[in-house]
Formats: sequence, structure tokens, C-alpha cells
Amino acid sequence: MTTASEAWKALTAWQPQKLADLVAHDPEARLQSLVRNVADIRFDFAKTHLDGAAIDAMQGLATAQDFAGRRKTLFSGGIANPTEDRAAEHSAERGEGASDSVRRAQALHHRMRMLVDAIEAGAFGEIRHLLHIGIGGSALGPDLLVDALGRHNSRYDVAVVSNVDGAALSEAFAKFSPEHTLVAVASKTFTTTETLLNAESVLQWLDEAGVADPAGRFIALTANPDKAMEWGVDETRILPFSETVGGRYSLWSSIGFPAALALGWDAFAELLEGAAEMDRHFRLADGADNVCLLAAFVDQLYANRLGCQTRAVFAYDERLRLLPDYLQQLEMESNGKAVTLDGAPLGRASASITWGGVGTDAQHAVFQLLHQGTHLTPVEFIVAREPDHVLDAAHHETLVANCIAQGAALMAGRASDDGARNYPGDRPSTTILLDQVSPHTLGALIAFYEHRTFANAVLLGINPFDQFGVELGKEMAKGLAEGTIDFDQATQALMDAALGG
Ligand code: F6P
Repeated sequence: MTTASEAWKALTAWQPQKLADLVAHDPEARLQSLVRNVADIRFDFAKTHLDGAAIDAMQGLATAQDFAGRRKTLFSGGIANPTEDRAAEHSAERGEGASDSVRRAQALHHRMRMLVDAIEAGAFGEIRHLLHIGIGGSALGPDLLVDALGRHNSRYDVAVVSNVDGAALSEAFAKFSPEHTLVAVASKTFTTTETLLNAESVLQWLDEAGVADPAGRFIALTANPDKAMEWGVDETRILPFSETVGGRYSLWSSIGFPAALALGWDAFAELLEGAAEMDRHFRLADGADNVCLLAAFVDQLYANRLGCQTRAVFAYDERLRLLPDYLQQLEMESNGKAVTLDGAPLGRASASITWGGVGTDAQHAVFQLLHQGTHLTPVEFIVAREPDHVLDAAHHETLVANCIAQGAALMAGRASDDGARNYPGDRPSTTILLDQVSPHTLGALIAFYEHRTFANAVLLGINPFDQFGVELGKEMAKGLAEGTIDFDQATQALMDAALGG
């Protein structure tokens, strides 16, 4: 059997052909081998440098890194996260996983549904606004879901506040009336400084406004119910989720409460079913037929064979404007690692730096670098067939044409003797075309990114489910604020200058 280092050697020997030649050579065969349709989403890798030889080398790497074994561990509730000695069971939230974990997730979803029904029935008075407090994985997912799917039919005004900067909370206070506000405090650990400080300030705001029983307005979404109770949330208003669901993979659990409340339970259930459809594809499809693994082949080709340090994602759809932010945490917090599963130095590039924005805006701001800059940046375009408005069809046609033209221009380029006007071309892109932006397709799309991230981790031989890298900064911030750690002179001088200490 090929070892991982032999597979990497095969990739080093592999030479990229020109994109335009790859496409022109046998277009039908290329589309056949590099376009996949899963869950009403078309994933098009035809304009990447992936070819048969690269796929073979990548497949050798996947086998050497025991892709099938690690995937089985993931779905069977085995120890997928060895540094924290636990499973990674976000798929169980969607009904795909070990049967006892699925049963537990369903029971907790039922509890969430009961609470949604009680709120609807007026158990908390006349609620019009939901203030969701959380950060990182406890905020980015719910924010994305409500922003993408609740534009026309949200049953509540939802504000997601994450930043400890009081300006963020003040903005929400200015919009909401305290007597009509329900508060969801989302924190897996229920120990996150920013979230707890924001929650205290909300409690004070409700109290000062004369709301009767302000603590009674709080719901906790957490894997640590004891801490939530200690903080003052009544047990009946705690929506727990399993410790084995990672923070950045948690929007399917009670962390998704704002979506379930604002969009309605049926929409939330559809979201889960869309993700489950992608789970089943990822669990059952082999090799390059597996769209998540195929995407990871592309990622590794660019990151570790062609030296690309970043990957850019552009949503040509306002509804998906928060997707690049969401993906930054998913991809960079998961795979920004320096050691392999057995603790050895990784010795190659870990996660690419994910960045991006919204099209067409980004074309007029950052695309210059993509077309003519000296960096090679694989670009991902996401676009939907169905628009979200009833304005003149020219809007959607222009949007879609721009999206597709960018990929074509990046690939074709245009030669000119005048260097400033020369477009080198041969620049890769992937296009993801959704039939529509619905709960089902969005669930499938997010699950695709989760599994692609996992597949990248497998190819690299790393653990995508821990995040020890964020701890040192947290500890130091606490020490600096409390004055309990001696800092270097430069840091201390800066602190004195900033806070006049
Ligand atoms: O600091 C990083 C992190 O732990 C993320 O992984 C997580 O999503 C976020 O903080 C919030 O954590 P919690 O949900 O426990 O408040």
C-alpha cells in the first residue's frame, strides 16, 4: 500500500496542465468527471487544475491516511477528537450517527420544539424580539441562518450580539423594547467571558426598564446546564446539547434556536434534512465520487502542491453574505494546526486562509489582485438559480452573468504586450450553483463544508475538532485585565496608554 509520504511524492512529481487545455481537450469527459450534483446543488470543479493523475495521487493519499476508517469513526460515535478524548457528533443532530446519540439529539430537539411552541403560545408574554448572545460557533451559525432564510418571513426580530464591545449591545438595545424581548444566551461551555458579560448587561437593561422577573426572560443554549443554572437561568428554560457537538459545528443543536423560533420548526427540520442528505452522500460515496472529498483534493492540490496560502469565497447572493465569515471559523479553527494526530510536526501547510465577500461588490474592490496579482488564489463562487426578489429580471441575469464571467476571465486571461493590461489567466475557480436558497439546500451546503473540512484534516493527518490555539490569548487577556500576570514592558506600556493604568 502507498504510504502518505509516497503519495505526497507522487503529487510533487505531478505537473499541472493549463486550465484552458484541460477544458478544451475533452469537455464532455471533464464535466462528467468534475461536476457533481448532490442535494439540488451543482458543484463544478471543471476550472481547477485537478486531472486524472492528480486525482489518483490524492486518492492514494486518502487511502494512506485511512480516510474510510476515520469517516467510519466519525459517523459511529467513536473517538474522532482524540486530544479531547471524545466523539464529534454534529451529524447525529441530523439523524445520521450512532443510534443512541441520534435518539438523544432527537429528544433534545423535542425539548427545543416544546419551548418554541410555548413562546408562540404566549408563555413569555408578547414576545416580538429575540436577543441572541453568543460568540464564535455560538453566534456565527444562527446569524447566518436567520440572515439567509428569514429575510421575508421571520416571525421575530432577531439580533445576534457577539462582540464584547458595548457598542454592539447598545445597537440592539436601541432597536428592541425590553418588555417584548426574549434573551437566548448561547455558550457551549457557559464560561466565555464576552458572552457572560453581555448577558449581565442585558439582565441589567431589562431590570432598569422595569420588566417583571428579568431573569425569567433568559433561555440558555448550552452543553453545560449546571453553569447556566449557577448563572441564574431556570432549569426549565435550559436547552442542552451534547458535549460531543463542537462549537463551530453546533448550529444543528439548540444553538440553532433563533432559526427554529424565527423561521418556524418546519424550516429548521428541513435544514436538518438537507444536512442529512449530504451526510449520507459523504458517508456512502467513494473516492472522487464523493463531492466533499473531491473538494478536499482540490484544496490540498492548491495549498500543498501549488503553494496557495489563501482561498477566496464569494457569495453572489445577498442571502449568503455571512457565509464567508461562517466558513472562516469552520475552516481555520478546525484545520489551523501545526501537529499531526500523533503529535509530530505537520511539516506542510495546514488550513488555507479563508477570506472572501459578496459579488458583485467584491469585483470592484478586491478582484484586481485575483486577476493580476502575483498570488495564485483558488476562488470559489456560490450562486443560486432563483433570485430572492421580484425586481426586473435584469438584476438576476446581471448577477449570474458576472459570477460566471469572473471564473471564465480568471481561466482564460488575455495576453497583451502592455504589461499593465496583460491578464495571465490560468487561475482556478470552483462554482457552486444552488437551485434555490432554501432551508434544505443551505443545510446541505453547510454540511458539505463541514465534511470537506474533515476530509482536508484526514488528508493532512490532523485533528479538526480541537482548538487549543485560542486558549493562550484568553488567559493573557484575563491576566492583563486583572493585573495578575507580569507582562513585558512593551505590552504594559501599551496597556497603560490605552486604559491609563
Ligand atoms: O475561543 C474559541 C471558542 O471556544 C470557539 O471554539 C467557540 O465557538 C467559541 O469560543 C464560543 O465558545 P462557547 O460556545 O463555549 O461560549
